[in-house]
Amino acid sequence: MSTQIETELHQAVELRRNFAIISHPDAGKTTLTEKLLLYGGAIHEAGAVKARRAQRKATSDWMAMEQQRGISITSTVLQFEYQNCQINLLDTPGHQDFSEDTYRTLAAADNAVMLIDVAKGLEPQTRKLFEVCKLKGLPIFTFVNKLDRPGREALELLDEIEQELGLQTYGVNWPIGVGDRFKGVFDRQEQKIHLFERNAHGSRAAHDTTVDLGDAEIEKLLEEDLYYQLKNDLELLEGVGPDLDLDLVHQGKMTPVFFGSAMTNFGVELFLKYFLKYALKPGAHNSSVGKVPPTYPDFSGFVFKLQANMDPKHRDRVAFIRVCTGKFEKDMTVNHARTGKVVRLSRPQKLFAQERESIDTAYPGDVIGLNNPGVFAIGDTIYTGQKLEYEGIPYFSPELFASLRNPNPSKFKQFQKGISELREEGAVQIMYSSDEAKRDPIMAAVGQLQFEVVQFRLQNEYGVETILELLPYSVARWVEGGWEALEKVGRIFNTTTVKDNMGRPVLLFRNEWNCQQLQADHPELKLSAIAPVYSCEQPVKE
Ligand code: G4P
Repeated sequence: MSTQIETELHQAVELRRNFAIISHPDAGKTTLTEKLLLYGGAIHEAGAVKARRAQRKATSDWMAMEQQRGISITSTVLQFEYQNCQINLLDTPGHQDFSEDTYRTLAAADNAVMLIDVAKGLEPQTRKLFEVCKLKGLPIFTFVNKLDRPGREALELLDEIEQELGLQTYGVNWPIGVGDRFKGVFDRQEQKIHLFERNAHGSRAAHDTTVDLGDAEIEKLLEEDLYYQLKNDLELLEGVGPDLDLDLVHQGKMTPVFFGSAMTNFGVELFLKYFLKYALKPGAHNSSVGKVPPTYPDFSGFVFKLQANMDPKHRDRVAFIRVCTGKFEKDMTVNHARTGKVVRLSRPQKLFAQERESIDTAYPGDVIGLNNPGVFAIGDTIYTGQKLEYEGIPYFSPELFASLRNPNPSKFKQFQKGISELREEGAVQIMYSSDEAKRDPIMAAVGQLQFEVVQFRLQNEYGVETILELLPYSVARWVEGGWEALEKVGRIFNTTTVKDNMGRPVLLFRNEWNCQQLQADHPELKLSAIAPVYSCEQPVKE
């Protein structure tokens, strides 16, 4: 017989879905997010997210840099309800604000939605983010957007996904025409055509007209050639295409594909409906005591992102925690696995864009923001009851490198402290030359913004002005087997060896080609684009 808390947790998990959108800039992520919130009733008129953003720019001064650049550095969590389900949309920072946080957010997600522009197909940022999803085995739902604009054939796009990403595809709905001739989509589950209304207004929930495929009017509603193309495509899909296999979807091996136009709201509701049906509910997580199911009665979670200075008046930091098990309650005390300390979780926050709203409870699959007076680091576990620790979050291959110098010897201590704290927070990766004479830290990042944030914060929080010098590398690889494995291969060329903050060897290359060359010359050397994760990481002394 299950206890009351287990029943409560079971119900909460059944009704929760959590996902992040992966896409390349301009594919329509902001637009789709807005439309999802519109259907979820979280906003009443689309444009609100953008307007909120503009308003924030005008009124908030929480981070001067954000104002200067006019961008959002934070990733936030948007929570909305749809058909009784509680949906958590983890917003991944994109564009110029692409950083390791974008990757880390995926560590807190149970599902990913891959948003593709129908005219462009797969693009570089989407591919990179896909690799992170693949590593985690996240289920991927594909939304092909902008069908109201000229674009590529549906079959060709599916083929691209299969060939390039190695994912099987299943078209849950199927487009009829594209661009000026876009007529709507065919829902293969219900065997109904949803007709697209070109003059539908995109700011409110769309009104949807459906007809059966066998309807006598259908040939008139769709132009004849489009009707026959639909029939042909469907015959092909039914004949040689795979059936929808939810096990494969949940293992991240098959992607259900949807077509629509976020701008005009078309296909968004249909997507939501099937997403809720097919998406993974909050599941079990690997930990030091094995896989822990979400209905485990004690509370636990892990930190996947830290953010500083949201409120300059308080100079506070917020730790974003993914709830994995049990029920979170305001003011509860928890254990901090890495330090062994007891921490009281006061001032918990739920975040909608930049607005903070206090919360009293949270369940598995939810994300909470906690005030972080320097207690938490990325990957930290908090728990009640029996001690457990979740697998850490790996470091992802940086692509930008710069050495950072403090020209003022009297600021030596502040500089060291700042670097060490910012690294611990996960603002940037820090590496050191293996040549002891070169003591300046090397910053390694996935986005330029990370460098700017570090320099800005060193100046504002630690009073140290720094000089940054970009280094000519673009690829980093960790050496499996460490220094011993590296020594065995002897001299290697066209690479620079540095050590990460754990003292592990990392090879830096100018380009992918040099990296491949080394691999070809030394196939015995195993290189990895992702740093191995150790639980309870203890950085070496800097
Ligand atoms: P992002 O967050 O992924 O970068 O993309 P965003 O939603 O900002 O969309 C990028 C551009 O694509 C926007 O146009 C947006 O209106 C447009 N867009 C998004 N979805 C659709 C769609 O389904 N159909 C069409 N035709 N366009 C779409 P913009 O001109 O850059 O901005 P705005 O003036 O519309 O704000």
